[in-house]
Amino acid sequence: MIFTVAIDGPAAAGKGTISRAVAQHFGFRHLDTGLLYRAVGVKGGDPVAAARDLGPADLARDDLRTLEAGQAASRVAALPEVRAALVEFQRRFARSEGGAVLDGRDIGTVICPEAEVKLYVTATPEVRAHRRWLELGGDEARVLAEVKERDARDMGRQDAPLKPAEDAVLIDTSDLDIDAAVAAAVTVVKARLAGT
Ligand code: C5P
Repeated sequence: MIFTVAIDGPAAAGKGTISRAVAQHFGFRHLDTGLLYRAVGVKGGDPVAAARDLGPADLARDDLRTLEAGQAASRVAALPEVRAALVEFQRRFARSEGGAVLDGRDIGTVICPEAEVKLYVTATPEVRAHRRWLELGGDEARVLAEVKERDARDMGRQDAPLKPAEDAVLIDTSDLDIDAAVAAAVTVVKARLAGT
């Protein structure tokens, strides 16, 4: 069975948690596409060459989850040649046998417009910054500024900007706990699998 769940949305909206839980629930494979851009961002040197040569060791680095890696990712992600170098791998993953969940910024709009399910997971910048701050610590005001800066860059770029696909189901997690957010996503996938 080929079945793709595309989950897009801004940083710290809950995409990662929802994606992992949905993949586990349905026995699908999961790809966190942000990690690809983070790995390119932290590798240094020419980002286009880094994107073309990306290997398993780059994705296994333990410094990919930091705020700095997120900012570096969002800068290299604005380069069309970097995005182009990563498209094929993501498309193949999305349409491989057995079901796949991909989370990112452009999965439902660019990587897999034919996805069977498209979710757009969001929350207010304040709620997202608070979650990131609980995870990473530091100065909460700075985390909020970084979240807003990254939103503006991801939404404002020319190539594959962050926006909901026209047929995406919106899940606003501002007032939802993790279980409720996951349940909402699972319900949408179940309905599509059942053909309703
Ligand atoms: O999701 P995550 O915070 O790990 O993504 C890091 C950055 O990578 C994002 O801010 C965005 O600029 C970029 N990205 C992207 N397209 C994706 C996934 C991530 O442009 N599909």
